[in-house]
Order: sequence, then C-alpha cells, then structure tokens
Amino acid sequence: MPNIFLVGTHWGDEGKGKIVDVLSDKSTACVRFQGGHNAGHTLVIKGKKTILHLIPSGILRDSCKSIIGNGVVVSLEALIDEIDNLVTSDVQVEDKLTISEGCHIILPTHKALDIAREKSLGKKSIGTTGRGIGPAYEDKVSRQGIRLKDFEDKNFEKKLQNLVSYHNFILKNYYNDSEVPLVSVIKDLESYYSQVKKYVCNIEELLNEVVKTSGCIFEGAQGTMLDIDHGTYPYVTSSNTTFAGLLSGTGLSPTDIEYSLGITKAYTTRVGQGPFPSELDGELGKNIAKWGGEKGATTGRDRRCGWLDTKILRKSIKLNNINGIALTKLDVLDKLDKIKICLNYGEIDYNSMSVNDLEYLEMDGWQQSTSNAKSYDDLPKNAKLYIEKIEDICSTSIVLVSTGPDREQIIYRNKIFE
Ligand code: IMP
Repeated sequence: MPNIFLVGTHWGDEGKGKIVDVLSDKSTACVRFQGGHNAGHTLVIKGKKTILHLIPSGILRDSCKSIIGNGVVVSLEALIDEIDNLVTSDVQVEDKLTISEGCHIILPTHKALDIAREKSLGKKSIGTTGRGIGPAYEDKVSRQGIRLKDFEDKNFEKKLQNLVSYHNFILKNYYNDSEVPLVSVIKDLESYYSQVKKYVCNIEELLNEVVKTSGCIFEGAQGTMLDIDHGTYPYVTSSNTTFAGLLSGTGLSPTDIEYSLGITKAYTTRVGQGPFPSELDGELGKNIAKWGGEKGATTGRDRRCGWLDTKILRKSIKLNNINGIALTKLDVLDKLDKIKICLNYGEIDYNSMSVNDLEYLEMDGWQQSTSNAKSYDDLPKNAKLYIEKIEDICSTSIVLVSTGPDREQIIYRNKIFE
C-alpha cells in the first residue's frame, strides 16, 4: 500500500475514522498532523463503537504505529483520558504511540478564552467545539505558545506563568469572565506531563523511516472547507486541514505522499455555523440526519444535512491533489425516491449566508438496501448511476464505497486498497 493522505472533502465528519481503520489493517503507521481533540473519529468494530479525538485511529490495530505530528495542538488532559479509555478496552497503547515534542499544548485558559469569545460573539459565533483550539493556535503563531519540549526547559514555569497571566488579563478585563487559578494550572500540567512524557520525542527520524517503508496513513482531521486559508472563513477551524497542513504538521515533503484519498459523504453535512449552499432545512434534511445518525462525535450537536455539493468536491480535489475518492454512507440514501446533486452556485454572501444561481441535477433513487453489497456489481443500478455521475461531474474516480458503519461494509474498486 502507498503512503496515503486521507482528507475530508467538505466540512468534516465524512467518515474518515472508518476508512482509516479499514486501511490501517495493511499500514505500518497512522499519523495525525493538525487539529486537536476537536476532531471525533467514530469507529464501529464488531458492533462496538469507539470514538477517538486525538490519537490516530490506527491505534486499534496491533501492528500499526500511531504518531502525532508537530502540527497537532494537544490537550494533555484529553490525551490521558483517551489513553486510559483505550487501555480499559484492552487496546495496547504503549510502544505504539509517539508524540512530537514540537506539539503545542492547549491550556485550560485557551479553553476558557474559546468559550468566552464564542459567548461574546452571540449570534455571530463560529460554533466552535469550545476546546481551546483557536486560542492555542493563536499563541503558536504569536510565538508565545508552549510546546511539549518546553516542559524540559529550565524557564518552563516562568513561560507558563507569563502566558496564563496574559490569558487571565484578557478573560477578566476584556470578557469580564473568571480567571483560571495559575497554581492549579501549573500543578495539573506537571502531573499530566509526567504521565505522557514516555510518548514524547523528536519524531523526525521515525517519520522518515515509516514513509520509506510505505503504507503510512496520514489522517486529516476536520475537512477541506474548514481550512483556515481555503475554507469558509471565518467559519473554519484554526489549522490547515488540506495537503499543505500535512507538510507543515509533519516536516515531510510532498513526494513522500504517494496517494491522496478524498473522503466524501454521499450527501453533505456541516456542524457549527456558517454558509451551507446545498443545505436541506426541511423535513428531508431532518430525515437524512436521523438515518445517518448525524450527531457531532465531539460535541453531540446535530449536524446540518444537504445534497452532495460537487462544487466543493471539485475544489477539494484540486486543493488536495486527490487521486481517488472513498464515498461513504451511501446506504443512508437507500430510502429516497429522488436524489439531487448540487452542481454549482455563485459567490457566497457571508452576510446573508446565501448564494445565487444554485444548480441541481435530480436523479432517481434506488429504494433498496445497499448495506449488504459485497461488490460494486451487487449495488442497485441507480446507486451505480449516482456514483458514476459524481465521477463524471468531478472528473475523478470513486475507488471505495462504504455502505454501513462496520469494517466489513466496504466495496473496493481499486486494487491498491485491497
Ligand atoms: P474549532 O475547531 O473548535 O475551533 O471549531 C471551528 C469550526 O470547526 C466549528 O464550526 C466546528 O463545528 C468545526 N469543527 C471542528 N472540528 C470538527 C470536526 O472534527 N468535524 C466537523 N466540524 C468540526
């Protein structure tokens, strides 16, 4: 298997967790490179649901190393929680997990600032996950952030004190909110760090080694339209979720990545605020949400649902140099008699959140179950027509089709993934 970059083509929640899990069976390592515990990758293995936020999904495979690259912002508390949960479920973590010493950490004050800012924005809020992601990246960019390697620095406590005092000043004087006691921040962090220290190191050599042997999976978090530069700004997350984020978040070069796999849901969803041109805000949207179990894996919020947006898909293919698409949750559309594909629209108006000239193509549904299909030929004729129409409109190949949450519910249309 090649070194593969997996990226959500829309606003996240495309079902990356399951695809990573399926592919990690043959992979040597699984790497996260951006975002933090705002991500939520849901995996269902033999009917048992596991949600991972920070640790790469490959951790569930014994033979797969899990690596967290320097571009990820890490909440030590969330990390410890996730490790403990995995260990309780008999998943081996030690010897498999490695975290870059260059990762910036998320402080309790980052979380407090995230929540205070959202509250002050009122109706104009972004709808963040409230986990401190944005403020942690702000400090990284303003060169005052704290990296894991800083715990070993003799000036660590001073640096931490300065930063927390600065955060508390803003919390108190700008947001009129409560401060976070410095003493407890220092005490908690030191205790957390002592628990995770064994996983932290310089990962440059390890990464160069794993890409040399091939079969490495780079697991993008969130999705292309949440990219800080190329997404629906300001309704985005605070990292580069696209191919560029992989490079800066690991230190690898473009040629190390041999295949870009776009993960696309058979319809489109979004959680949080922001424009969504193909949104279905009536009964049909609610039904799709119900059939698809569309609730955020991290915050439990309802996801907004709409028709597949191929304007975004075409943009994602270009931005991420996508070689093939994994189409997920096809089975969710099984009941529909008519299915639309969003073809195009004009510029988004960020005041009204609307677009002009929305164009759709309507197709007949298949109204049969696809969840037991073992091969492409087992799929109903109209389901195949839907898949092939998407390929046509986007000049791409759909190489994997997922028809249910379980590991086994997957159809391979390309040899390299078999
Ligand atoms: P933040 O990443 O918590 O700052 O949130 C910024 C935006 O990204 C909000 O609209 C969130 O709902 C969205 N977001 C963050 N993580 C995810 C994810 O894993 N899936 C889908 N949306 C996400």
